[in-house]
Amino acid sequence: MKRILFFASGTGSNVENIIHYFKKKNAVAIVGVFSNNPEAKVLEKAKNQNINSLVFNRTELNDGVVLKAIEKLRPDLIVLAGFLWKMPEEIVHQYHNKIINIHPALLPKYGGKGMYGLKVHQAVFENKEAATGITIHYVNEHYDEGEFIFQQSVNVEDCKTAEEIANKVQALEHDYFPQIIERLLTSNI
Ligand code: GAR
Repeated sequence: MKRILFFASGTGSNVENIIHYFKKKNAVAIVGVFSNNPEAKVLEKAKNQNINSLVFNRTELNDGVVLKAIEKLRPDLIVLAGFLWKMPEEIVHQYHNKIINIHPALLPKYGGKGMYGLKVHQAVFENKEAATGITIHYVNEHYDEGEFIFQQSVNVEDCKTAEEIANKVQALEHDYFPQIIERLLTSNI
């Protein structure tokens, strides 16, 4: 049984989608949802699925408390799904190539600190980009800079608002993220 641990800060539509995807299969266990945000909707979603969660503050993330909590759960893969804080170096090194993130744009465009969620889509809209997409990548100590695992683009020329772009990108995330996670878990991990 492979073990996935999530880090998420917000709504958790990706977490929920991935939980559903693996429910039908018996090879993967979701061992926890960790969040920096006590108000995050993702925590309710975890509770509804009887998945353990942990809420932590910045000090706990950086002083080893969170690392200890991760170690206890023995994850094969740590999945950042809308997690907005930077992973500390200590965790990144200990889980080298075992932490992945999804970003709602075609990195290296529209990445970096402060680029998340609707802000990304607003920038894409304002720049009149013909296409945007998703990037799934390994996490290193810099925002949105780890090695790419997968990208998929979508045409957004017909989108009249940033929200319309967000909907198209979210559909891509929901289609591809579970499959890529499954591929990683069944390959070299
Ligand atoms: C997702 O679109 C994800 O790509 C994005 O946050 C959203 C979370 O949605 N992540 C970033 O912007 C990271 N820089 P969700 O909570 O509904 O899964």
